[in-house]
Amino acid sequence: MNLLVTGACGYKGSVLVPKLLAAGYGVTAFDIQWFGNELPAHDRLTVIAGDVRDVHAVPLEDVDAIIHLASV
Ligand SMILES: NC(=O)c1ccc[n+]([C@@H]2O[C@H](COP(=O)([O-])OP(=O)(O)OC[C@H]3O[C@@H](n4cnc5c(N)ncnc54)[C@H](O)[C@@H]3O)[C@@H](O)[C@H]2O)c1
Repeated sequence: MNLLVTGACGYKGSVLVPKLLAAGYGVTAFDIQWFGNELPAHDRLTVIAGDVRDVHAVPLEDVDAIIHLASV
């Protein structure tokens, strides 16, 4: 199962994403990266820098579910 996590590089995402990877999920992290990206590399993790307000940039292909954490 492939998950899209918006705001994945923030406080909550940085805790959640490693747990999702450990549970066996594929994760696409989509974040504008205002605070950088400290997510550790993983073979099932793809990190994309982008803005959720640019709806056509949000990578939805092969995504089974979305966890939306992006916020101001
Ligand atoms: N931290 C808490 O204790 C807490 C408690 C309850 C609810 N929440 C909610 O959970 C969500 C995440 O909280 P957090 O503490 O991880 O926040 P955070 O500020 O640490 O992370 C938010 C992330 O969203 C990204 N982001 C912001 N705007 C974006 C955009 N337009 N496109 C793409 N990425 C964007 C930022 O770069 C950042 O990495 C928020 O909605 C917050 O209100 C947080």
